[in-house]
Amino acid sequence: MVKQLLQKSEKGHVIATCRKPNEASGLLSLKNMFAQRLSILPMDVTDESTIEASAKSIRDRYGSLNLLVNASGILSIPDVLQPETTLLKVEKSSLLLTYEINAVGPILVIKHMWPLLKAGGGTGTDRDVAVVANISARVGSIGDNRLGGWHSYRSSKAALNQLTKTVSVEFARRKDPVICILLHPGTVDTDLSKPFQRNVPEGKLFTKEYSVQKLLGIIDHAKIQDNGKFFAWDGQEIPW
Ligand SMILES: NC(=O)c1ccc[n+]([C@@H]2O[C@H](COP(=O)([O-])OP(=O)(O)OC[C@H]3O[C@@H](n4cnc5c(N)ncnc54)[C@H](OP(=O)(O)O)[C@@H]3O)[C@@H](O)[C@H]2O)c1
Repeated sequence: MVKQLLQKSEKGHVIATCRKPNEASGLLSLKNMFAQRLSILPMDVTDESTIEASAKSIRDRYGSLNLLVNASGILSIPDVLQPETTLLKVEKSSLLLTYEINAVGPILVIKHMWPLLKAGGGTGTDRDVAVVANISARVGSIGDNRLGGWHSYRSSKAALNQLTKTVSVEFARRKDPVICILLHPGTVDTDLSKPFQRNVPEGKLFTKEYSVQKLLGIIDHAKIQDNGKFFAWDGQEIPW
């Protein structure tokens, strides 16, 4: 996403965050290509002080943000967290860890970035509202839950959806020029999906490039009426 944001316009800054900037080889090679337009800041969404520090650094350096994408998320961690196949495998620690990263983290990020969210600015997303795009997942839909399983991940994304919707209502009430949308990227060939790709039907495993292109298309065309909506990669709305 960082790469495509940098490539789609010749102006504007992109600020990428991750836990260990010195080890983020993909971001570091982009930094070599876009030295003046890319900043990489450390942020661990489970440590609110790093979110605050990023917000301060962005305010001091750039003054505002016109697009905020929350993409952090976990599904499994070797030896720590596995998606549950039955209620019998549900653990308090897995539920809490997944909620902390997938739902609590992104909302704290919005809280601290809120004062910076302003329309305009020229990153190729010029419009009269700023956009917050939270990357959710279709499995977070309660209405669409036909298979069960993955209790921690599903419910953390459902919590992210409800928190994002709640924030979107508050922004609208205050007439803040900020809209919040939720995006399902499809099943994408990333580290997160790698251990679970066996049962993905042919043609349904997207490349990162394709998924990001679709998601940026939705972000670019998002209007004030889309505030609080949950979209799939193809622009279709997903039931709650
Ligand atoms: N891949 C799919 O099929 C799929 C499907 C539906 C939804 N999604 C959602 O898409 C989003 C992106 O996932 P992905 O597929 O790109 O997976 P990924 O390659 O595993 O990326 C997840 C990112 O989350 C970050 N992260 C994890 N814990 C964090 C923490 N405590 N603080 C800050 N960042 C943290 C990691 O950043 P670091 O660089 O710091 O490690 C990592 O870059 C997630 O929200 C995921 O739930 C993915």
